[in-house]
Amino acid sequence: MTSDIDWDVESATFDDEPDHGLRDPVVRDAWAARLRAWLPARPCDVLDLGCGTGSLALLASEHGHRVTGVDLSPAMVGLARAKLAGRDAAFVVGDAAAPPVGEERFDVVLVRHVLWTLPDPARVLRHWRGLLRPGGRLVLVEGVWGTVSPVGVSAERLMDLLAPLAPEVRLECLSDDARLWGREVGDRRYAVVAVF
Ligand SMILES: C[S@@+](CC[C@H](N)C(=O)[O-])C[C@H]1O[C@@H](n2cnc3c(N)ncnc32)[C@H](O)[C@@H]1O
Repeated sequence: MTSDIDWDVESATFDDEPDHGLRDPVVRDAWAARLRAWLPARPCDVLDLGCGTGSLALLASEHGHRVTGVDLSPAMVGLARAKLAGRDAAFVVGDAAAPPVGEERFDVVLVRHVLWTLPDPARVLRHWRGLLRPGGRLVLVEGVWGTVSPVGVSAERLMDLLAPLAPEVRLECLSDDARLWGREVGDRRYAVVAVF
């Protein structure tokens, strides 16, 4: 899986999509409720990989979590820093497949709409597991978009990749909740929470 999108260019209009910018309160509340259910109730350390403009990072921060965001695009990182200015959050430019976090470990690795772009997802998932503290969790939001030439990673493939790694994996369908996307969607969108 690879993607040749120029994310620095995309950053200028990225938040115009309802589920990216979360500007519509209905969409924002729908994501806030899901995220609250996926993350631990207590304040914890969240690593948001491929954080984009920081929209999910902001929700996590508003729920009381400390967030570290990593993105390959300097423009995205700049926007995320501005969005979370003054909060307990840090953003760095780096590769989600090998985040530059040194020996730091996290309670949650959160990744939305990024895994499908990375080569060798099996290796990447093993690496992300190694970034977690004991009892930590991976929260992955992915999908298969489009019908003519679909892109993405299927839930079945992701579940297969996680099965040997995580004792507990939960799959949640997101396609049927139009509030998350600001419209009805016909393709397959889902979240996976893997608890270690
Ligand atoms: C579809 S956007 C998702 C952004 C954010 N996760 C969200 O859900 O709003 C994909 C993001 O992943 C970033 N990205 C793509 N490949 C990456 C990589 N190898 N390492 C880090 N970030 C990457 C892009 O720069 C972009 O910000």
